[in-house]
Amino acid sequence: MSTAVPIRFAAMAAPPTTEEIREVNVRYHDLAAEHYDAKWGIDYGELGQSQVTGKLAKALGGRLGHYEAGLEIGAGTGYFGLNLVRAGVIDSYTATDISPGMLGVLAKTAETLGIEAATTCTEASELPFEDESFDIVFGHAVLHHLPDLDGAFAEFMRVLRPGGVVAFCGEPSHYGDRLAEIPKRAAWRVSPAWRAVLRARPAPLAGSSEEVEEDDLERVVDVHAFTPGTLAVHARGAGFEDVRVRGEELAASLFGWANRSLEASARAEDVPMLWRKYAYHGYLALQRVDRAVLEPRLPAALFYNLLIAARKPV
Ligand SMILES: C[S@@+](CC[C@H](N)C(=O)[O-])C[C@H]1O[C@@H](n2cnc3c(N)ncnc32)[C@H](O)[C@@H]1O
Repeated sequence: MSTAVPIRFAAMAAPPTTEEIREVNVRYHDLAAEHYDAKWGIDYGELGQSQVTGKLAKALGGRLGHYEAGLEIGAGTGYFGLNLVRAGVIDSYTATDISPGMLGVLAKTAETLGIEAATTCTEASELPFEDESFDIVFGHAVLHHLPDLDGAFAEFMRVLRPGGVVAFCGEPSHYGDRLAEIPKRAAWRVSPAWRAVLRARPAPLAGSSEEVEEDDLERVVDVHAFTPGTLAVHARGAGFEDVRVRGEELAASLFGWANRSLEASARAEDVPMLWRKYAYHGYLALQRVDRAVLEPRLPAALFYNLLIAARKPV
């Protein structure tokens, strides 16, 4: 499943095949695995647990529920699943991913946290599990990497028990992606002045060969950005009912992208801790504004992330 030779879609004449998309995802996520938690500020304490339970409850329409057997798709290093187990939402946890590197980090973290996690390296649309063996199939930031969404939703339906739920959070929205370009471009324009104020040197033009390869691959691993309609159609097509799509993060994501773009323009060691704290706490404060003010009022399509939940008929 993995490939030692990096695939560069830019150099290909034809659009990438399903197999090529999978191979690039394995390569990119294997490279990213060891520093993934640090890069995304992933937390397994109270903060991480409240983030994931909040997202899952939002996807499920406010009611979190409790599940005996949970299957995670594209579990990565375990951000969502390990936190759900710690929060007592899931009893028995099975983590799947196409990247052995990501699952290796997950297994180590699970051991450190004293959590039992069964890990299986597999493609989302070919799940090696018995029919009707899980109460919830869930994931975070994974559907947009899957070349065969209809095949994957058919598998989620097959492995769920009747009445079981499917819930995915953190999927990029089509309009959200476009909106994020505005703060990114604005930040890039003001970045020289920002660096001058903070006395930060510009970021080096090229990193290590692994960093350059990771950057190259990052541009091709995302194969979808969804509207609520284009996301829901796969769940309905597989036979799920009560399909609901919600939106999440608008002000927080605009603020976050502006800050990340500024930070990326400077040498990491020159960005002061005080700035990082401001960026982090500002982001959390704006998440609260999104939740309280914007999410209940604006259409899901406008938000940066989409969440989908549905139920297998009884
Ligand atoms: C953006 S990461 C998210 C990881 C984790 N869910 C999180 O939120 O931190 C996407 C994950 O999906 C996995 N993935 C990509 N394509 C996949 C596929 N076809 N089948 C299963 N997993 C896949 C990647 O290896 C990666 O771990």
